[in-house]
Amino acid sequence: MCGIVAYNGPKPAQQPLLEGLKRLEYRGYDSAGIASISDGALSITKSKGRISVLEDKLNSEGNQSGVIGIGHTRWATHGSPTEYNAHPHRSSDGKIALVHNGIIENYAAIRKYLEEKNVVFESETDTEVLAKLIGQLYSTGSFTLETAVQAALREVTGAYAIAVISADEPNTLVVARKGSPMIIGITDNAFIAASDASAIVSHTTQVVTLDDYQVARLTVNGHGPEIRTTTIDNDVVNREIEELEVSLEQIELGDYDHFMIKEIMEQPQVLTNCFRGRIDGREGQIRLGGLDAFARDLVRARRIVLTGQGTAWHAALLGEYLLEDLAKIPCETEYASEFRYRNPIIDEGTVVMAVSQSGETADTLAALHEAKDRGALAIGVVNAVGSSIARETDAGVYLHVGPEIGVASTKAFLGQVAVLTLISLFIGRRRYLSPQSVAEYITELERLPGHIESILQQSDFIRDEVSKVIDRDNWLFLGRGYNYPVALEGALKLKEISYIHAEGMPAAEMKHGPIALIDEGMPVVFVAPHGSQYDKAISNIEEVRARGGRIIAVATENDTQIEQYADTVLRVPAVPEPLQPLVSVIPLQLLAYHAAVLRGLDVDKPRNLAKSVTVE
Ligand code: G6P
Repeated sequence: MCGIVAYNGPKPAQQPLLEGLKRLEYRGYDSAGIASISDGALSITKSKGRISVLEDKLNSEGNQSGVIGIGHTRWATHGSPTEYNAHPHRSSDGKIALVHNGIIENYAAIRKYLEEKNVVFESETDTEVLAKLIGQLYSTGSFTLETAVQAALREVTGAYAIAVISADEPNTLVVARKGSPMIIGITDNAFIAASDASAIVSHTTQVVTLDDYQVARLTVNGHGPEIRTTTIDNDVVNREIEELEVSLEQIELGDYDHFMIKEIMEQPQVLTNCFRGRIDGREGQIRLGGLDAFARDLVRARRIVLTGQGTAWHAALLGEYLLEDLAKIPCETEYASEFRYRNPIIDEGTVVMAVSQSGETADTLAALHEAKDRGALAIGVVNAVGSSIARETDAGVYLHVGPEIGVASTKAFLGQVAVLTLISLFIGRRRYLSPQSVAEYITELERLPGHIESILQQSDFIRDEVSKVIDRDNWLFLGRGYNYPVALEGALKLKEISYIHAEGMPAAEMKHGPIALIDEGMPVVFVAPHGSQYDKAISNIEEVRARGGRIIAVATENDTQIEQYADTVLRVPAVPEPLQPLVSVIPLQLLAYHAAVLRGLDVDKPRNLAKSVTVE
């Protein structure tokens, strides 16, 4: 969703701001803007659409030369995606500029208060009230930029990460956060602050992260960069400098055409990284350091509620199947957005597992708060190290799949399912699973990176098969048991990036309505590797064939029978049933990718989507 970059240093800010905004493009946005200060005056340039439009505008209307500046990519919430709603927003006297991620929940009340004081608004956004409020406080002469920001934030409810500059204090950049990330990169002579590490890593790996309700004043003068961190009540807090765990290579395309295919192809290595130090075949042990202190609570848990949104919800649903199958604990999976508002029953003995790539999804974070308030033990299955969900859970397991840039989640899904498999074995071993059985699973887990490597070699074949049905606008994805959540994920991938209408469902459910959709040549993907429900899946395939559907089957390598029923067979190696999702999702990721490319779509920037959804 929205992204922030801010720069204070010796060079003109425009170039690092634009470079940073391009690194944040993947998060999804519909307008962008930058502001900087030169010769005691503020310049703001904004545009609707891509960063390239903003660059063209700067080239035609004049580049900004200020050495302190702020930039923003906006994903519209309050107010349409227009130039006047784009950030930065400014104070009434035009001296202060502000960019904001998050939502000011009481913006209507603040706007009314300011309008009664004859403040005129230029946009429909919630953000502008903050710019105007800070400006109004500053103009009284009783505040510095830092203390005006603190005072304004004391009036605000909601979530924010902000960066603010003032023409009257051209050496000072102020940033703050509550509920939305803000990272401050520090070099020898400059600050580069951003809402996302990917906009910082080309400058430095030395960072300070802010906690909720904290403000940082970042000044650059003859002594170099100086940072002062306080709470919004102006109490000084000391923040340690940390090393960023992201490399430039991880966030660059390299030889690939798109981040999505880069991340699909990385998956063998990603899985190896995820398993490193966690599986020990010789001892038949799963080691999850993050859960050790809570192992007894997990073993004695009476119920586990898994929650997340989007792809993470699909992984959570697989977590339910895995935990019930391997650890024999009753589970349920809930959309975080539903869970948080429906007065859920949580008692002692309930564990809530929040699954999230970004660790910042607003609904998942709120569901977590709800669960914790009601006394649940909160466990995180998160990719982004140090993210809000990772920090607010009692314990957790990181995915260690590296930053995911492609908006359509691929390697993070694999990592989420892999980690949930490890957690299920970790708990299962302490309940009913024998050491031999865990050792056998570990042997199979160790083979998975090689298996995925071999599936990825079918990429060209999958592209050719997809090209035969690329004109079809309606698809079904079906599966039974462990293959059902995989079918949901396959359908979501196709929808997200190719805009083809696709529905995933349990294969048997098709008969209860969706079968009416099937007409001659409709692509129907069956996730049907060998397993306990294989024969039932074949019956469902026959039902579709009888109505003219075109069958694309994901099937086990040595399955010779399937060819009689399917028009296309995508092969996956044989693995034990609980591990099948980790292989059968791979051909579906490739299928979605090739469909989008064949339709000439912008795979990494799908329309209307945001990578990290920080509003509910
Ligand atoms: C957005 C993304 C999805 C993602 C979902 C949950 O909708 O586009 O790819 O699955 O949010 O995100 P999270 O970061 O919590 O996994």
